[in-house]
Amino acid sequence: IKKIGVLTSGGDAPGMNAAIRAIVRTCTYHHVECIGIFRGFQGLVEGDFEPFGPRDVNYIINKGGTILKTARSETFKTAEGRKKAYENLKKEAVDALIVIGGDGSFTGAMILSKEFDIPVMGIPGTIDNDIRGTSHTIGFDTALNTVIDAVDKIRDTASSHKRLFFVEVMGRDAGHIALNAGIGAGAEEILIPEENLGMDRLLESLKKSKKSGKSSSIVLVAEGEKLGKNVFELGEYVEQNLPEYEVRVSVLGHMQRGGAPSCFDRVLASRLSVKAVETLLEGKKNYMVGLINDKVELTPLEQAVKGHSPIDMELLRVSDIISI
Ligand code: F6P
Repeated sequence: IKKIGVLTSGGDAPGMNAAIRAIVRTCTYHHVECIGIFRGFQGLVEGDFEPFGPRDVNYIINKGGTILKTARSETFKTAEGRKKAYENLKKEAVDALIVIGGDGSFTGAMILSKEFDIPVMGIPGTIDNDIRGTSHTIGFDTALNTVIDAVDKIRDTASSHKRLFFVEVMGRDAGHIALNAGIGAGAEEILIPEENLGMDRLLESLKKSKKSGKSSSIVLVAEGEKLGKNVFELGEYVEQNLPEYEVRVSVLGHMQRGGAPSCFDRVLASRLSVKAVETLLEGKKNYMVGLINDKVELTPLEQAVKGHSPIDMELLRVSDIISI
């Protein structure tokens, strides 16, 4: 392998730049060229490439977003689009591809690899932490810190007004952000798609919490979980059924995807990226690099895209105990 292409795809995540930087520099270290591909698979289809050297990635380890930009490409989903993508890779003499993104991005990479025999490696980058084969995805830790910072602030006003807040956090169909940030911010209840709490139990728990003398309550809601209602309807329903509560709703939204990556995410991105390049140079292909028991390990891409990483149900128990 003489030339490696790298792209970021799907939703951006803090730490993607740290990964790009580490990939470029690991390539240089091993005397391999590195090509940056802009706007994910869309840039691959359009041939939006640029050679990257170690000085092109100065001062980006601390930056949120991705300097390579990202996109969700419809063209790449077609056979014709993928053919164009492969032709562009050949034209630029790119021998292997590293994709930083989530399971959708890995699926795209796998299809390309099968159709045209191009070695690919996946690096998990998404704030949702919903990928099998790694305990942490790049961006998850930073997003958690952003969420607890926001919820701490909401707690100040909630407690001054003695209000109940429903705070919706990201996680398309996974509760990792809600569960972990919920514990970290001391939420009274956490609603995640992996566990069906049910409306009655939610009302019961909020009643209990009021009786116990709490001056404010925070319910963290994963965007994938609404108990059949959107978060505003959920708030209204609770206010109607528990008139002792004054309810407000706050949707944190895309601020969770931005900001300087935490030290954890920078170190994670660097470790995974070095391994991704070196794995390709060893002649291996179609793996995802991930963190398992704090060791960087390989998981076949085919397995990594099979369903989401499971929730640690013990965390729910911990939350129940400490929110009493
Ligand atoms: O997958 C990351 C994520 O931030 C999800 O948590 C969220 O549902 C989705 O992306 C939002 O996507 P978009 O930025 O395209 O609205």
